[in-house]
Amino acid sequence: MCGIVGYIGARKALPVLIQGLEQLEYRGYDSAGVVCINPTNHSLFLAKEKGKLGQLKSVLNGVSLASTTGIAHTRWATHGAPSKANAHPHEDCKRRIALVHNGIIENYQEIKHKLLKKGHRFRSETDTEIAVHLIEEYYDGDVEQAFRKAVGELKGYFAFVVLSADEPGKLFVFKRSNPMVIGVGNGENFAASDVTAIIPYTRKVIYLEDDEFAVLERDSITISSRASHKPIRKTISEVKWSVDEAKKGGFPNFMLKEIYEQPRVAEETLAKRLKNGKVWFDTLDSKAEAHLKKIRKVFVVSCGTAYHAGLVGRYMLEEYAKVPTEVQVSSEFRYVDPLVTKEDLVILITQSGETADTIAALREARAKGACTLAIVNVVGSTIAREADYVIYTHAGPEIGVASTKAYIAQLLTFALFTIYLACLRKTVSAGFVASYLKEMRKLPKAITTILHREKLLEPPAKTLFKNKNFLFLGRGYNFPTALEGALKLKEISYAHAHGYAAGEMKHGPIALIDSTQPVICIAPFSKTYEKMVSNIQEIKARKAIVLSITTEGDKSVKQLSDWVFPIPKMSEIFSSILSVIPLQLFAYKISVKNHRDVDQPRNLAKSVTVE
Ligand code: G6P
Repeated sequence: MCGIVGYIGARKALPVLIQGLEQLEYRGYDSAGVVCINPTNHSLFLAKEKGKLGQLKSVLNGVSLASTTGIAHTRWATHGAPSKANAHPHEDCKRRIALVHNGIIENYQEIKHKLLKKGHRFRSETDTEIAVHLIEEYYDGDVEQAFRKAVGELKGYFAFVVLSADEPGKLFVFKRSNPMVIGVGNGENFAASDVTAIIPYTRKVIYLEDDEFAVLERDSITISSRASHKPIRKTISEVKWSVDEAKKGGFPNFMLKEIYEQPRVAEETLAKRLKNGKVWFDTLDSKAEAHLKKIRKVFVVSCGTAYHAGLVGRYMLEEYAKVPTEVQVSSEFRYVDPLVTKEDLVILITQSGETADTIAALREARAKGACTLAIVNVVGSTIAREADYVIYTHAGPEIGVASTKAYIAQLLTFALFTIYLACLRKTVSAGFVASYLKEMRKLPKAITTILHREKLLEPPAKTLFKNKNFLFLGRGYNFPTALEGALKLKEISYAHAHGYAAGEMKHGPIALIDSTQPVICIAPFSKTYEKMVSNIQEIKARKAIVLSITTEGDKSVKQLSDWVFPIPKMSEIFSSILSVIPLQLFAYKISVKNHRDVDQPRNLAKSVTVE
């Protein structure tokens, strides 16, 4: 949460910083701010506003600064309410040093107390502000040394970019736990929370590791560790994402664009992973194979939408790779002292690779000696770097806060990994693998067919958009689909939506049902199809309003439902990849009809980098 960007070079800094914040706004949008160094008198120009970036932009409308050095921030509030005073950047007492921060300073109260006694005056209620005053406290002509001393006192996790009017040719960067990437330009350099803020200018990046400092000048980048102070040689990586992928491309918002990108994501995922009739992962070598062959049990650990992907993954792994699999949300896994052993595989699924609880769960699993495998979308992210093995989902940048295409990529990757593991463990025949992969190749077309049917969701969305309570029911592979459908609706429409295993309906949710209750039933052909039909009958007998996701050719569910959305006929395992797409579109339509901000729903952030 919170997005940071810093620039030093020859361009005017303000437009570069604002454009960077536009790309990072998904990380939080409670307030936004920018500070630039005025090149003529070396004073700081600061502007910040409560609310979305648009507020800051309207204040800056018509402002043209000659400054070529600055830092900026978009905030997801942790300490201190969303307000102009609490917005970053924060400045020291003399307004000579400014700082932006992503993370939490856990011991800020005791430091604040100490600094107040020394006469520092605070302008906000944030934990962040103490850091800039601490630098001021230690400053005696060398910002880097003061910054190093200050960081040495802080507990918690953070990414900082600092500038000072007294050293106008430098930006000072530090990272611990929270992401920070350095963009390597020609006569200019960048720092940002993620690469989307940088790729319009350079594709060359350096990923900072924990406890590393970087000093950026126009023509140089010096990186050193906190402990040794010695310069470190870092690898420069090339970012493959294109600039267009991070733009709306004619769609009204990122979420709809990302929903419509799903056929391409499926196509590319399959093209990358299928070679000579086999599943192939470029990052899994023979050592990994030897490791994976022997595993006793799998734990899948993740949050939010990625957790739902894990639930589907469990059904896949148990059915085909015949390996016992347990799925947990990261925030539980890390605190329950999980019974993970050296013989186990812990799979971390994450779009961002930066979710704080999932990072902690990964470290817990590693500490217990388990083999760790990350399924990650963002290349070079913390989880991708720290896990023993990584499989990238290659969905491209996902900007909409509600995850869509990353989920599809996670499910596809799980389906591929399942067969890969099943082959290693010899739990499936060659004939089965051939027919499984043949069917998988039909998925991109099937997703396109579903998107072409979007209009079928218009009548139910029009009828139901004012409703405040929705129930989603599914079984087997589509029980997690019910959870994910409910989550999507909750996130972007603010209606209460509850996903339930249909078999559990009689153990509680049926009490909710009357003629005003909408129930979304995910009922494609499957081994529990008849059971779903019975459930829908029971719901209809109590006069609920029913929208069902069915398979083409279905008759029984259609007869019972007010509306149906048919998906192409495929095996049950793949139905979970298809049936979630109409639910994404349904949530989208309800959100738009309620005039919600689809891409930036209230209180949420794309990447939850605090516990
Ligand atoms: C947040 C996002 C969700 C996401 C979850 C896990 O809640 O809004 O879309 O599923 O975090 O994020 P991760 O990056 O670990 O997949």
